[in-house]
Amino acid sequence: MVEETHLSVNHLIYPLFLVKGKGIQQAIASLPKNYRWSLDLLLFEIESSMKLGLNKFVLFPAVEDHLKDTMASYSYAEDNFYLTAIRTIKERFPELALMSDVAMDPYSSDGHDGLVENGAILNDETLPVLAKMSIAQAQAGIDIIGPSDMMDGRIGYLRKALDAEGFTDVSIMAYTAKYASAFYGPFRDALNSAPKSGDKKTYQMNPANRKEALLEAQLDSDEGADFMMVKPALAYLDVISLLKESSSIPITAYNVSGECAMVYAAAEKKWINYEAVVAEILLSIRRAGADGILTYFAKDFAAFSKV
Ligand code: PBG
Repeated sequence: MVEETHLSVNHLIYPLFLVKGKGIQQAIASLPKNYRWSLDLLLFEIESSMKLGLNKFVLFPAVEDHLKDTMASYSYAEDNFYLTAIRTIKERFPELALMSDVAMDPYSSDGHDGLVENGAILNDETLPVLAKMSIAQAQAGIDIIGPSDMMDGRIGYLRKALDAEGFTDVSIMAYTAKYASAFYGPFRDALNSAPKSGDKKTYQMNPANRKEALLEAQLDSDEGADFMMVKPALAYLDVISLLKESSSIPITAYNVSGECAMVYAAAEKKWINYEAVVAEILLSIRRAGADGILTYFAKDFAAFSKV
């Protein structure tokens, strides 16, 4: 009766990795329990997750190197397997909510989220590329786009671009307070998307900054974000709390790959109780103020909270 925080599968968003091909379920060395799936097998993974009560998914593409270029042009190519997957998933499971990733890094030969020139990221020149990618995803049937790129001004730019094409109903989950974090390591292994040179510190946030998150939130909400995300989650619970209290837009938190990998590793050594720790972590992220949580634990939590 007096419990203040509630956690259920309804709060969870399950991230999934997609590869081109058929019959593929590829393990990811640094992120056990998660796989790169080809679309045919991914559909089974989605179906079994939905049977456990999950109905929100976010999809990331692992793109072969030969399809990458400096302009990330494959991100909006007609025959792009990621767009085909969005189309197929929404046809098969119209009742689920599907979220995308909008950033150049999975498709960029430079491994950066924006265009690179002489080692620098070109913020404004990146925006049209992100818009083409977003419109292509909207045409494929995405419900919510997720700009994870951290370019300045992209939320307003993408909102305008989507509206102009008639996609007024496509929502934007803005990666608002996304920190330049070492916790993204396993994700970059999964997508083979690590920067070829330099780092992401000119566009992702400094982990030392809290007030800057308020500024980012102000900009994203003014520009038309429907959700605002804090990422990573666990080392940034104070930021989740800050944004939840200072804004009326729903807040999501990304319990990122490195955070989950640490738990998988300790559990494998039997140093911690996996189920109890996962439940406690997710509850804590909710207690900090997250409405929704993107987490690789989603399916396991759904499975063990069902019984
Ligand atoms: C890149 C992107 C990253 C993640 C989601 N989108 C990595 C990065 O910024 O380098 C990380 C997610 C995770 O670690 O689980 N646009």
